[in-house]
Amino acid sequence: MNILLLGGGGREHAIARSLAKSKRLNHLYIAPGNAGSSDYGTNVSLDILNFDLIKSWSLDQKIDMIIVGPEAPLVEGIYDAIKGDDKTNHISVIGPSADGAMLEGSKAFAKKFMSEFDIPTAAYLEVTNDNLVEGINYLKSNVGPYVLKADGLAAGKGVLIIEDTQEAIHSLKEMLAGQFGEASATVVIEQFLDGIEFSVFALTDGKDYVVLPVAKDYKRIGEGDTGLNTGGMGAVSPPPFVTKELMQKVEDRIVKPTIDGINARGFDYVGFVFIGLIRVGGEPFVIEYNCRMGDPETEVVFPRIQSDVIDLMEAASRGTLLDSKIEINPLTAAAVMLVSGGYPEAYQKGKKITNVPTTSNSIIFHAGTKVEEEHLVTSGGRVIAITSFGEDHKAALVSAKSIAEEIQFEGKYYRKDIGFDL
Ligand code: AMP
Ligand code: GLY
Repeated sequence: MNILLLGGGGREHAIARSLAKSKRLNHLYIAPGNAGSSDYGTNVSLDILNFDLIKSWSLDQKIDMIIVGPEAPLVEGIYDAIKGDDKTNHISVIGPSADGAMLEGSKAFAKKFMSEFDIPTAAYLEVTNDNLVEGINYLKSNVGPYVLKADGLAAGKGVLIIEDTQEAIHSLKEMLAGQFGEASATVVIEQFLDGIEFSVFALTDGKDYVVLPVAKDYKRIGEGDTGLNTGGMGAVSPPPFVTKELMQKVEDRIVKPTIDGINARGFDYVGFVFIGLIRVGGEPFVIEYNCRMGDPETEVVFPRIQSDVIDLMEAASRGTLLDSKIEINPLTAAAVMLVSGGYPEAYQKGKKITNVPTTSNSIIFHAGTKVEEEHLVTSGGRVIAITSFGEDHKAALVSAKSIAEEIQFEGKYYRKDIGFDL
């Protein structure tokens, strides 16, 4: 198979590595890719939101399958663009149609979906300028902390958690007035859930599914989960608190009803469903849906998948996942993310990266890297993820952190406490 993988982060490097293990792969292209993904295929500079260009390029290169890493092309309708054209509809697309991607693209849409299919989630109210008074009364009649979510995509920044009622009312007005642009013209106010978060991933063909390894990511920049939110500073798979019993509840009450809901709504959904969950008093609740894999979760989830991932994705695109089994490495994988000094606020790029080990039992996943005048340099906030295996997360993290110490670039920072709460 000739495959085009869209995206250029650690997630895509990790997917590329798994694809390259398959005997089914002929040629892999990654757009735009990074300095690590080029070990497994050819990086190409295509605008991943220019669907006409992607279609004509894919025809020229005889692409059989397009795997979409990030959410933006999905929400913008890349699936529909490829499948709606006689010339390209033979190409498999891993990633849902635009209507399925609304599960990530609109929080209000996702809440209505969960309510329709009885999927456990926090109580909520949808607010626009038209029912602002109702929104204010909702805040006044509940106690903090309040969770305010911009409805649309806001690069992971659109969720505010506020203790004080007056402050929450003020923020609600600010959001509706355009704090996050169009994305916050609608706001979802949610009941605050107190518990520990984890992420469950399924690959679906729109009616059946396989569950991928479960993971937990660490979003805050500071140790002890403090400071600003980032794309993700590390991950562990599996987190030990996700017992078989909890996972069974997740599958029965959440994964299966979600896929049944997708089927009932008639969405063309071939791809990944990423369910952000929280455990409250032993019971799982949905925090959010994403229509793609997570980053850095993919850097611990994909290395644990021992089955041929191209076989799995092909089964998804043919609608035959019911017959698929997935084999998972029982060891624990843990990832530590090296980031640029200053991230997630302003940071510098172009710093020379040295001491990257060429042989080790760990896996080095590039995120924001590129090659400039034959030197590996930083090109983003999140620079490199180091994934190691162990009997448990502690053992895995000893290896990952020793390599995190070794690799050097000016301003390097990483969290030394990944897994501290497990
Ligand atoms: P989201 O973009 O919906 O995943 O929200 C971002 C983060 O906000 C989540 O990872 C949680 O840490 C937090 N969060 C979202 N919804 C809630 C909730 N209902 N209760 C408590 N925390 C929440
Ligand atoms: N790590 C969280 C995400 O990919 O959205």
